[in-house]
Order: sequence, then C-alpha cells, then structure tokens
Amino acid sequence: MKSKKLVIFGAGETADIAYEYFTHDSAYEVVAFVVEAAYRTTTEHYGLPILTFEEMQAQFPPADYEAFVAISYTHLNRVRARCYQIVKAAGYTCATYISSKAFFWHSATIGENCMIFENNVIQHGVQIGNGVILWSGNHIGHQTRIEDYVYISSHVVISGFCVIGAYSFIGVNATFNDGITLGKDNIVGSGSLIVKNTEEGKLMIGAPAKPAVKSSYEAFGVPENAIAV
Ligand SMILES: CC(C)(COP(=O)(O)OP(=O)(O)OC[C@H]1O[C@@H](n2cnc3c(N)ncnc32)[C@H](O)[C@@H]1OP(=O)(O)O)[C@@H](O)C(=O)NCCC(=O)NCCS
Repeated sequence: MKSKKLVIFGAGETADIAYEYFTHDSAYEVVAFVVEAAYRTTTEHYGLPILTFEEMQAQFPPADYEAFVAISYTHLNRVRARCYQIVKAAGYTCATYISSKAFFWHSATIGENCMIFENNVIQHGVQIGNGVILWSGNHIGHQTRIEDYVYISSHVVISGFCVIGAYSFIGVNATFNDGITLGKDNIVGSGSLIVKNTEEGKLMIGAPAKPAVKSSYEAFGVPENAIAV
C-alpha cells in the first residue's frame, strides 16, 4: 500500500538503488527524479521525469511530497549534506528508509534522509542523525551515536557506547572497540580495527589502526571550501 509520494534528488547509481528499495519495500511511491540543472543530461528515468530543483518545487510542493537525497560519499559526504540542506531549506520533509529486513530496536532513534539496508542490527538506545547511510549487514552496538552524514559500508562492527563523528566514512569490515569516539571527518579503511579515540580529519588504516600520513580530506579529494561546512 503506497500512502506517500517521494521525489528522489539524484539520478545516478545511488538514486537507482533508492528507487528500487523505496518502490519495493516502503510506503512511498517514487514520482520523479531531480538533479541540479548543470547535471541534467536527459529528461526521463524509469519512465519518470527528471526535473531541475526549480521544476520540482513548482510541480511537487513540500506540502504534498517528500524528498530523498540519494547521493553517495563523494567529497567525504559533503555533496549529500549540501543537497540535503538545499532540500530542507525549501521546506521538504526528507524520507528515511529502513529495510523491512533490518533489526531496529524500539528505543533507537533516527533522523531524516537516512538509508538502512538489510541485515543491519541497530541495538537499544542507538542514536542516528540525519543523512546517514548504513549499507548492508552492520552491527551498531547499544547506546552508540552516529552523527550526521556518516556513511557506513558493510559488515562493520561498532561496539556499545561509541560516537562516530559527522561526515565520516567507514570501510567494509571495520571494527570498533566499545566506547570509542571517532573524530569528525574520519575515513576508516576496510578491515581496520579502531582501539583508540581519533582526532578530526584522520585516515585510519590497519589493525590496530594508525593515522596515515595523508588526511581524510586528501584521500577523498575534498575541496578546501567544502571542508569548512
Ligand atoms: C583506506 C582507503 C580509503 C585508502 O585508500 P587510498 O588513500 O587510495 O590508499 P592507497 O590504496 O594508496 O594505500 C596506501 C597504503 O595503505 C595501505 N592500505 C590501504 N588500505 C588499507 C587497508 N584497508 N588496510 C590496510 N592497509 C591499507 C596500502 O596497502 C598502501 O600501503 P603501501 O603504501 O605500503 O603500499 C582504502 O584503501 C579503503 O579501505 N577504502 C574503503 C573500501 C570500501 O570499504 N569500500 C566500500 C565502498 S561502499
């Protein structure tokens, strides 16, 4: 039963996946895609219109339609964050998708524009901010906080009482001991083991993980003017 209508902001790979999951596993009917005017190369996708943001506001106003910003971790999640803020400033509610095959304990909380894929375990008291993506099969331990715009790949184990700093990217199979605070803007390499708190802007690699010489900003090519956001 589709009771709500959704416009997907984006028209790339992540938008395709969002279309698939919202269509087949949510109460949302996807009605259009939206791209920033400079990125529009075609006008139709899956038989739905691809609009500019101005056209979206005219045709699908925030009183009747919700939005979902479907953008991956480009520039350490800054592009998704920027587009989310544009959509929110225009008055839209952003939809959050939680897979029907995820375990989400009743005391856990979650913000807008999140995507929680299948086989995630979200335990008691977990707090998830806005714009967070959890790809499939992660364990998020009790009372852990995941701040805004974090991207967690797959099969990551985050123990209890951790804090994952805003905009961070966590590679596949990474592991966190309990009570860890990962600084804002960190990248954690695949298979890495985090045993100590980290500072802002670090690229952490290895088991146990150590900060790499280059920063997370260099590793993901984040433009200078985006870092300050
Ligand atoms: C951490 C990461 C971002 C670093 O990428 P990068 O900056 O391009 O680093 P490089 O490939 O140049 O590697 C630099 C060094 O670190 C080592 N290294 C890179 N990633 C590593 C990892 N996860 N664990 C251990 N060592 C690693 C490399 O072997 C290399 O060592 P060397 O200098 O002795 O040869 C990347 O390796 C990674 O783990 N990406 C996440 C992959 C993932 O989870 N994808 C899912 C997407 S949804």
